Amino acid sequence: MKKHNFSAGPCILPQDVLKKASAAILNFNNDNLSLIEISHRSAPFVNVMEKARSLVLELLNLEDKGYTVLFLQGGASLEFLMVPYNLLNMNGKAAYLDTGTWSSKAIKEAKLFGDIEVVASSKDKNYNYIPKNYKIPADADYFHCTSNNTIFGTQLKSFPKTHGLMVCDMSSDIFSRQLDFSQFDLIYAGAQKNMGPAGTTLVVVKEDILGKNGRQIPSMLDYKVHISKDSMYNTPSVFAVYVSMLTLQWLKDLGGIKAIEKINNAKAELLYNEIDHNPLFRGAAEKEDRSTMNATFLLTDDSLKEKFDTMWKSAGINGLNGHRSVGGYRASMYNALPLESVQVLVDIMKKLNS
Ligand SMILES: Cc1ncc(COP(=O)(O)O)c(C=O)c1O
Repeated sequence: MKKHNFSAGPCILPQDVLKKASAAILNFNNDNLSLIEISHRSAPFVNVMEKARSLVLELLNLEDKGYTVLFLQGGASLEFLMVPYNLLNMNGKAAYLDTGTWSSKAIKEAKLFGDIEVVASSKDKNYNYIPKNYKIPADADYFHCTSNNTIFGTQLKSFPKTHGLMVCDMSSDIFSRQLDFSQFDLIYAGAQKNMGPAGTTLVVVKEDILGKNGRQIPSMLDYKVHISKDSMYNTPSVFAVYVSMLTLQWLKDLGGIKAIEKINNAKAELLYNEIDHNPLFRGAAEKEDRSTMNATFLLTDDSLKEKFDTMWKSAGINGLNGHRSVGGYRASMYNALPLESVQVLVDIMKKLNS
């Protein structure tokens, strides 16, 4: 039975990418050796790393603008502390926007390094909206935000201007929509949503912002060390980097971010339209802040839960249960999810109401 994978992450990847990745496990580069049994310093793997890094810059339109791409480990969660370690001045201050669980975790880690000002928070309404009209202190070394709130289904539609540096956790919407990526000085994202399997973290950083905060940074946590070794200071997560490279190539062949954004908007419109017009459902997030990646919604009559759950599960839908902090349902519609899968879900929602 065909599966429709709405999982929040790890999540759906393009079939074509999975086929190529499977083949490379047995025979990579026609050398009769597996991708995961050759040296990360061998030419075939170095080429993979270089290709992945250059595709990132090309897709984000950041070529020749002073940015470097890293593939690190430790997940986006390690970036929560690497960012202040590398960017927060001794006795400095940083500004954070609190839009959900992941922002809060980033704030918690940053507080270990210095003065952190939370400029606004949507915690008062269980993070169902994005705060607006907040002020970023002029003396903040950097401003940190989470572009897409995977758990709550909200997304920043625009980004503030700041005197300091701009840092963004784009774990759950990177490569999904067109943005002026050059407004950010540092972007990070766990691979396991729009890019590849869990195990590697993408960091895109403007090189000239580093090495200026006067801290002694342990090597593994120092972006400059990783840059100086081309993301190979220690053994990289070779499989995750390879699959990320394949997914980035898939996206480029499709027409890049411009093309995928169109498809992502069509998927989101189809689902939100049903949520808004079907009396048996209601959206969890404020309409203007809704995420195109993760749609959160609830039944208006909980007694229908068993029936609805049976219906979507028997249609081959996977991963639709909401996160425990919101309840209800969450449809994650990452880049690789076809419109057809959203149509299957919408048809079931209609059927429940017929
Ligand atoms: C927006 C966001 N930031 C950070 C994380 C944490 O990522 P990791 O598990 O790679 O540490 C997640 C995980 O889902 C996320 O969605």
